Amino acid sequence: MQASQRISGILGGGSDGWDVFNKARDMIAAGTPVVELTIGEHDIRTAAPILQDMHRAALTGHTGYASIPGVSALRKEVARRVQERTGTPTTAQNVLITPGGQSALFAAHVAVCDPGDRALYLDPFYATYPGTLRGASAEPVCIQTHAEDAFQPRAADIAAQAAGAKSLLINSPNNPTGVVYSRATLEGIAKVSHDHDLWLISDEVYDTQIWEGAHLSPRALPGMAERTLVVGSMSKSHAMTGSRIGWVVGPPQIVEHMVNLATHTTYGVPGFIQDAALFGLELGPDFEEEIAAPFRRRRAIAQKVLAAQNTVALVPAQGAMYLMLDLRSTGMSGEAFANALLEQHHIAVMPGESFGEAAAGHVRVAMTIEDSAFEQAIKTLCAFAESCASKA
Ligand SMILES: Cc1ncc(COP(=O)(O)O)c(C=O)c1O
Repeated sequence: MQASQRISGILGGGSDGWDVFNKARDMIAAGTPVVELTIGEHDIRTAAPILQDMHRAALTGHTGYASIPGVSALRKEVARRVQERTGTPTTAQNVLITPGGQSALFAAHVAVCDPGDRALYLDPFYATYPGTLRGASAEPVCIQTHAEDAFQPRAADIAAQAAGAKSLLINSPNNPTGVVYSRATLEGIAKVSHDHDLWLISDEVYDTQIWEGAHLSPRALPGMAERTLVVGSMSKSHAMTGSRIGWVVGPPQIVEHMVNLATHTTYGVPGFIQDAALFGLELGPDFEEEIAAPFRRRRAIAQKVLAAQNTVALVPAQGAMYLMLDLRSTGMSGEAFANALLEQHHIAVMPGESFGEAAAGHVRVAMTIEDSAFEQAIKTLCAFAESCASKA
């Protein structure tokens, strides 16, 4: 019996650059301690009050089928929060609640792309992007950003690929680079979207992790609300990765369209998770800052260590829980460096090449371990880079 090409096609074939990650997992399974700086997941668990509210909601009976677009109170709260933060009028009809940002990304692409439509995305990219676009039966078209621009996309490069395209996927604050797109970048992207009649899918799951500058949602730019779908999630903002709770914010007719997809796929999100999500959102910005604070602190720790040496350069670390380190002065690829660091020092980081071609010669460091161990790991990484550079 043959399984469908549609799912095997998601993987795309070839090396996916996750060898270092898999090797680290194997080492850990074999009992070798590894300093794990690969995956974007907090070193804390979901806060007890949120879990207590989830428990309360389940015990009071919110365990049956929940409203497919999302429970009204949560949709309203997401809309309120988005409107407050962006100034863009938003109501519950603009919001679809989804099982996490990942399924929101899929739903958004299925909602606007037909099979074979060109769907644009930017390199470096969050690892699932090309597969998500293929899963939606779109044709992924990758556009390079450049280390010399601090990975801010160039509108002209996007315009050059935009003829006949249906959508453009962007992500700011960015995983893997940690860069926050400037107003000028986003205005350029908005203009290309208008000129080429593109849907803009804006992945803003790191919008509460801003270390420098300000987060601007492109949906707030003139004329963009009717062509932008914003993907949000409580995974990163509330340390709720395992609860699988996120949303898409967009024009009501597209939200309705995605409700039809949800009816035939997810059938909504469990009611007790949605109630706990509402509770979490109502904890407000102070709680979100508390969740973000360890990354803010560790970024400062790393900046201090990096300032004391000249081999490793830090890509502007403006947001998100990652640092992108430029190791090109060692003459090594990100992959070779990450492999050697793992083998010789038992520190696991992601090669830049895992996220496309644009971040070759870089590694991504997740700031997801306790401060003093993190500081030591960055010091070891720098010393190792210096020794590699001196042999180059
Ligand atoms: C850029 C980006 N988008 C979306 C997601 C998906 O998040 P979730 O499905 O947990 O909400 C992630 C997770 O790491 C991410 O880094």
